[in-house]
Amino acid sequence: MKKYLLLVLLLNSFLYSAELDGKKVFETYCWGCHHQTAMAFGPPFSSIAAKRTKAEIKAYITSPQSMYKKFGYKRTVMTQFHLTNKELNLISDYILSYKGK
Ligand code: HEC
Repeated sequence: MKKYLLLVLLLNSFLYSAELDGKKVFETYCWGCHHQTAMAFGPPFSSIAAKRTKAEIKAYITSPQSMYKKFGYKRTVMTQFHLTNKELNLISDYILSYKGK
């Protein structure tokens, strides 16, 4: 019985760490320049969430070059990423989860 429990626990933590989530995408690609609620090199997710829609956020991540003027920036220094659709959805939802924080 004990062995069985241990196995379940191990399996659980394995599945958990293997699962991709918005926080992981954030930590992998964005953390160097954005923080959740504090100003870093780029604006905090809380202030992005306050003024952008999910579609706008996805568009910006996909192509800062074609979006920065529309967003009111004079230039862009953000890296252009090639994220999968899944990563894009996860990170956009993650950003939007900071709305009002
Ligand atoms: C090299 C630093 C850098 C990295 C890495 C970076 N950003 Fe940015 N980001 C910026 C800066 C600086 C801005 C402000 C405008 C600009 O320069 O494009 C910005 C702007 C944005 C905006 C638009 C802000 C607004 O006004 O609504 C979004 C959305 C965004 N970043 C998301 C992300 C996400 C998601 C990631 C990770 C996948 C990421 N950024 C990675 C530096 C970065």
